[in-house]
Amino acid sequence: MQSQERKESVQKRLFRLAGEIPGYLRSLALLSALLTAIIIFQMYLLSVVVNDVFMLHKAPGNHMLYLLAGAFVARALLVWVRERKAQQNTVRIRSALRCKLFGHLLNQGPHFSQREKTGELVNLLTEGDEKLDDYFTKYIPSIIHIGVLSVVVIVFVFFYDWLSGLILFLTAPLILFFMWLIGTWAGKLTSLQWNKMSAMSSHFLDALQGIKTLKIFNRNRAEAKAVSDTSDGFRAITMKVLRVAFLSGMVLELAASISIAMVALQVGIRLIEGMMGYQAGLFILLLTPEFYLPFRSLGQHHHSGMEGAAAAKKMFQILDTMHRQPNPVAGCKLPEKNIRMDVKHVDFYYPDAAHPALRKVNCSVEPGKLTAIAGHTGSGKTTFSYLLLGFLQPGTGQILINGIPMEDIPEKERNRIIAYVPQHPHFFNMSVFENLRLANTQANLDQVKEACIKAGAHHFITSLPQGYHTQLNENAARLSGGEKQRLAIARAFLKDAPVLIMDEPSSHLDPESEELMASATAELIKERTTLIIAHRLKTIYRANKIMVFDKGQIAETGNHESLIAKKGIYARFVQQPGEGGEV
Ligand SMILES: Nc1ncnc2c1ncn2[C@@H]1O[C@H](COP(=O)(O)OP(=O)(O)OP(=O)(O)O)[C@@H](O)[C@H]1O
Ligand SMILES: [Mg+2]
Repeated sequence: MQSQERKESVQKRLFRLAGEIPGYLRSLALLSALLTAIIIFQMYLLSVVVNDVFMLHKAPGNHMLYLLAGAFVARALLVWVRERKAQQNTVRIRSALRCKLFGHLLNQGPHFSQREKTGELVNLLTEGDEKLDDYFTKYIPSIIHIGVLSVVVIVFVFFYDWLSGLILFLTAPLILFFMWLIGTWAGKLTSLQWNKMSAMSSHFLDALQGIKTLKIFNRNRAEAKAVSDTSDGFRAITMKVLRVAFLSGMVLELAASISIAMVALQVGIRLIEGMMGYQAGLFILLLTPEFYLPFRSLGQHHHSGMEGAAAAKKMFQILDTMHRQPNPVAGCKLPEKNIRMDVKHVDFYYPDAAHPALRKVNCSVEPGKLTAIAGHTGSGKTTFSYLLLGFLQPGTGQILINGIPMEDIPEKERNRIIAYVPQHPHFFNMSVFENLRLANTQANLDQVKEACIKAGAHHFITSLPQGYHTQLNENAARLSGGEKQRLAIARAFLKDAPVLIMDEPSSHLDPESEELMASATAELIKERTTLIIAHRLKTIYRANKIMVFDKGQIAETGNHESLIAKKGIYARFVQQPGEGGEV
């Protein structure tokens, strides 16, 4: 199913998306059919009225004028209804696509969004989504209108005046062919333009995030130049795209004008030759420009259609990336206590990596005990914790929680039993209280305060301008590393889950923070199954079991004393202060 979807063109997939709204495309087609009938009727009335006034020199009947006015009003009303319908449904389609995309990104886990450039993703979710607006509000209704109007008008004119019908029949596909020809060329350019714009956004975000690094290395001028060069590249490609858009508009205008001229010429000749009545000729002459009008306006919408398709292409690429298909056993429940995790023969490769990040890892994290992981930088400690957290899936081997394979446990249940304290905790643009409550949405202020007291965070929070209601800006830039850690520990207290996975900060904290961290951690790990990537000797000493990672493998296992006695990697590692923090 997925590969079949991938072969399908972007345009077809976008139409299919619009088609997913029940009855939407059908109602657009019906409105277009009605509109076409009104246009034919309106032009007919007009030709009769003009014929009466100028050829027969008689005043047109009142009923004719009323009908004509009615046709004008009905036409305007139908156009308005069609636009409104298109806009309303576009909001629905865009929001469904946005949700699908965002849901997919969340589903893929942190590893996927780390691999994709953040700037490009943000650009896709904002600018890309915006570009689709014109596609759905203008381009799709235009295409449908052309389809319906062409068939109805050509069939009608064929019966009314076959020669004019034949010209319409032959020229309409020719115009569409020109448009397709220019479209394939313009499509490549708009894709290129989209890529340049994404690269520019990504570059800009990268520079903004790294502003301190750039400044300290005196690279701000060079970076400003690089950003300006990228913008210049974008400007150049945009000019090219605009030239093509202009050209395609012109070609369509020209083709439509020539076609109108051809119809007018043969009608004119037949009028002079007396082979055609004045009213009939006038009717065809009035109807022909109406027939080509949507083709000409498609020329204008074509450009926005191309832009929308270029953005959609990237969206579909993301949606098509292999989605792990979890197939959990419904109703699978884990106990509130005594959780055990077993890792069996696990290998893990990062995509495109030459060496495995983990090799033949076999171990267990015992219930209610503290297991510490030590090891040199790059030895695979974080990767191992990500596997237990379910952020990554093992290449080979299996992870069992209380004997149940991890993939059989629903994600919600797995997340319920694990509290995670990352090395660099993330905070959102919300108040301290709301940020903490993410861990337990039922918690009230008193419970949040209690958790903060246990985590040693209460004191500094109360000294903030609005205490617990102080707004934290993006990733809590106003807080120090130690303060963020304490908030992360408070979150774990609030979650009160039977398993705790913690990546200790490797940076040195001030003695007060250090002491607070140590006592808060000691309190937190009580009676929980705990796995700590340890950078502190205090944690290591306390551990029931230490697993020493080396080049993706568990090289040694034991407690502190037994490992020191072994005089192996661990003993050397502990005697080298500074490696990965204190340890
Ligand atoms: N997203 C990634 N893509 C490719 N390779 C990665 C990725 N993340 C980590 N690696 C590689 O996998 C190996 C293990 O990395 P990991 O982050 O697990 O090490 P670590 O033991 O946690 O190190 P540290 O103590 O510095 O945090 C390293 O060689 C690293 O370069
Ligand atoms: Mg790490």
